[in-house]
Amino acid sequence: DSIDECDIKTSDYKTQLLKELQRVCLDESSILKNKNPYNVHYNGSRSSSRKDSKQLLCLFKNVRVRTLTKSDYPFSNNSFKDIFPRRGLFENKRFKSCAIVASAGSLTQSNLGDFIDSHDMVLRFNHAPTDHFERDVGSKTTFRIVNSQVVSKPTFGFLHSSLYRNITILIWDPSRYMSSLEEWFKKPDFNLFTNYLEHRSKYKKTKSYILNPQSLWELWIFLQKQSVHQMRRNPPSSGFLGLAVLLSHCDYVDMFEYIPSVRVTKRCHYYDAEDNPACTFGVWHPLASEKLFAYSLNIASDKTVFQNGYIRIPGFKKYC
Ligand code: C5P
Repeated sequence: DSIDECDIKTSDYKTQLLKELQRVCLDESSILKNKNPYNVHYNGSRSSSRKDSKQLLCLFKNVRVRTLTKSDYPFSNNSFKDIFPRRGLFENKRFKSCAIVASAGSLTQSNLGDFIDSHDMVLRFNHAPTDHFERDVGSKTTFRIVNSQVVSKPTFGFLHSSLYRNITILIWDPSRYMSSLEEWFKKPDFNLFTNYLEHRSKYKKTKSYILNPQSLWELWIFLQKQSVHQMRRNPPSSGFLGLAVLLSHCDYVDMFEYIPSVRVTKRCHYYDAEDNPACTFGVWHPLASEKLFAYSLNIASDKTVFQNGYIRIPGFKKYC
């Protein structure tokens, strides 16, 4: 009896959650028509035919996430060309199991720490800590995706904190939709470049990369093509960027509390006290669209997703 009851609760919760994500997508497409800070112009096709999850996964594979290299102008002509790591991001590296730890408040009381650490590689975001939160989020960090605010604002301690050392780091900052790298280099949203140079020269063992900002828009276009509604014209979140990077290198990716489980909460992050449901459902990034897309690739059971708190997505290599 109690098992049945649990199943019913899971399925009620699932229905409610998916409805909420769809409602957010619909609202955004009607309310946000005029907001376009990155000057996004997209009149391309939207998906018309329904695709199964393997077809979607293989389409996703075509979006190439690129980092800046020494041959990208203007970096080819300035001091950066000798600073970028010589090898590409996880070049030729394969991992069996990968964990992506979205920083959601619903990780609190999850007890997922040991399971997260059992993965071959663990991706975390921005300044998300593990000290004092090991029981719920684990302690292993292989890779961190960090935005330009965290890199540039002294409060996040990018140049000093051990959070950003002896791991692989990918830094991102959005460009305008059609801008050249040169225009972006002169006027990023936040100045990531100064601290990047300093960090690279101080911590030689830390492989840190800068995302080619055009990749953000390629991810955005991909998502827009798959969505029925017009999407918010801001870049996708770090979580979605991480998924796009890791599917090329992992046999499978477990993504924790990106699709919120029944522990869903107003808390933005597991590590601070701010309440803001928009962190989970989207206020700046097209989060709801990202999440519905990621969920469409999930192969884990409803109990795993909505009770345990993670989706599992097979790496590109398996089917594509
Ligand atoms: O807030 P922050 O960007 O540092 O969080 C890292 C990522 O975790 C986000 O980009 C988003 O993909 C995911 N996240 C989430 N729900 C939250 C907080 C974060 O899905 N409540």
